[in-house]
Amino acid sequence: MHDMSSAVAPSAFPAESSVTPLRPAGPDDAPPRMTGRTRQYQVIEALQAVRRHCMQRPRVAIILGSGLGDLAEHIETAAEIPYQAIPHWPRSTAQGHAGKLVCGALAGVPVVAMSGRSHYYEGYGMDELTLPVRVMRAMGAELLVVSNAAGGLNPRYRVGEIMIIEDHINLMWRHPQPGSPREALGRYCAGVTSPYCPILIDKAAAVARRHDLVHHVGVYIAVTGPNYETRAEYRAFRRLGGDVVGMSTAPEAIAAAQQGMRVLGFSIICNVACPDAPTVNSHEEVLAAAQRAEGHLRTILLDVLKDE
Ligand code: HPA
Repeated sequence: MHDMSSAVAPSAFPAESSVTPLRPAGPDDAPPRMTGRTRQYQVIEALQAVRRHCMQRPRVAIILGSGLGDLAEHIETAAEIPYQAIPHWPRSTAQGHAGKLVCGALAGVPVVAMSGRSHYYEGYGMDELTLPVRVMRAMGAELLVVSNAAGGLNPRYRVGEIMIIEDHINLMWRHPQPGSPREALGRYCAGVTSPYCPILIDKAAAVARRHDLVHHVGVYIAVTGPNYETRAEYRAFRRLGGDVVGMSTAPEAIAAAQQGMRVLGFSIICNVACPDAPTVNSHEEVLAAAQRAEGHLRTILLDVLKDE
């Protein structure tokens, strides 16, 4: 008789180590994500570096998008801090982005402004991209003004006009929240119906009307880029409900709303999508259009800030 007690029954499954994955590498195979707690330490380290240059408590944080950096020149400057001097702060590598944090006053309101921002297409993770918003919030800012250069989808929009962002559609398919609910930086599942403050939208529109500036209120579609859209994509995005498309803003607006900040967003129309009479968009033309519209944006912003 055979003694079966010591026999090892052959398994129906191969040993784990010999299994070759049959699927392509997916998100579960990625290196462990930075946890919310680590990110919080980074926010504190960045905040300490900023405070070494400027102790002012800003009320308003401003992100100046492509070609809009000139607005920073109108800030009564208390301190200018190059991004390299702030640990963990993402550097802006895209053309048209200066890369400095400006602390001072605009229309008498204490502000902190990012002259130049970073984008997902520059290789940053969503939580890295939104660290500046978290730091500016930690400095004391309660309101985020975010601006961008965008492509017009709405056929009524013209180059050089301004759109006040009413809402966004996040086609980046990524979220800036690092870590688990326990480690969340801000509210984990913030009830964000739209991060953009309706009162500020109305106020900005009223100011634009008062100054006789052509403006729109509409929906921003956020994509990762870096390429501009194909004709079919422009058509599809319009049908989805977008008025403009761009490669930023949604992550920062979500992160700000998560932390209880009010958000006011502006898009400068830098090119218009004509899917049936296509033109080639160049980054230089986009920057030039943004620079031309900067004065109008400044007029609106200064008036909105006056009674903030
Ligand atoms: N698409 C995406 N981002 C943009 C565009 C565009 O047409 N113009 C300026 N930023």
